[in-house]
Amino acid sequence: MDSELSYWAVLAAANRWALYALMLITSGSALFAVLTPLPQRLRDAASAVGQPTSLLAAFSFLASVGLGGSEMMAGGPETLWSPDTWSLAASTSLGHSAALGVPAMFILWGGHRWQLRPLWLFGALGGIASFLLTGHAATTTPTWLAATAVAVHLAGAAYWIGALYPLHKGLRDLDLVSNASVIAAFSYRAVVFVSAIVVSGVVISWIQLATPQALTSTAYGYRLIAKVGLFALLIALAAYNKLVLTPRIELGAQDGARALRQVIRIEYALIVLILGAAVSLTLVEPPRALTHVLSTDGGSYELL
Ligand code: HEM
Repeated sequence: MDSELSYWAVLAAANRWALYALMLITSGSALFAVLTPLPQRLRDAASAVGQPTSLLAAFSFLASVGLGGSEMMAGGPETLWSPDTWSLAASTSLGHSAALGVPAMFILWGGHRWQLRPLWLFGALGGIASFLLTGHAATTTPTWLAATAVAVHLAGAAYWIGALYPLHKGLRDLDLVSNASVIAAFSYRAVVFVSAIVVSGVVISWIQLATPQALTSTAYGYRLIAKVGLFALLIALAAYNKLVLTPRIELGAQDGARALRQVIRIEYALIVLILGAAVSLTLVEPPRALTHVLSTDGGSYELL
């Protein structure tokens, strides 16, 4: 894997990056609106970004089936339009994931359109659950632990990403007192969700790496280090927001709100990079798979 990526593999990876971002933004906007006490203007902001991204995510789920099938068929550009390509991919985990992901995105669209909590919740949980049906992280053994860890991981990432646009808009449109109470409500919940991202990330890493040495001796390990490095930058920014900028906003300093808007834009860019690092992890064999092959048959390879 990854040594010579076919152009289908590159297209499939690029689409997976977009799907991660779109699915997490639309699900996260819903989770933020459901789980955080917000003024109507910020619920509207969550829906304003959640509605178009839910439709784009539905399209990206379908594209992942076509591109995944074309990658498996390893044919020319015409492969994408062949019914065989789609029926092949539909029978794989990609097809199963899209079969849950696409309806979930339409439920989310309805949730954002009419701001209905049940649609917001079921759509977001459906979107996250669809990711547990494919990929090598959630489907590895022990599946109960791996799938749970990936679900918690995605829920934490979704809440954080989904909060950013409404918070950014609120800092421009709301008064400082309203902003201070929204930020306090977000910050209280963000501590729980960020801790969930870290704990679940460590659990998935432990399963995928199999040995501590694999962190510093495999392609997967290096990419994971890069991802955690970006995450450390993100956490540093979040700490600056919490310890420096939020107190300034609570004291009524307008420049605190301006500065926080700038930091939120950097956070957004960093999270998009982290999602790229997550995609790059799916393009290489996790060390646990390599150790499993070597240990099962003393050197003769079998497909996992
Ligand atoms: C804001 C921070 C983070 C975001 C947005 C994020 C996002 C993601 C996403 C979208 C996936 C793909 C899940 C899938 O479809 O299988 C993933 C997988 C993963 N994440 Fe994170 N993550 C974050 C932080 C972390 C941290 C801090 C760690 C390590 C402590 C970590 C370790 C992993 C691992 C090992 C995988 C599995 C990759 C694979 O083998 O496919 N992540 N992450």
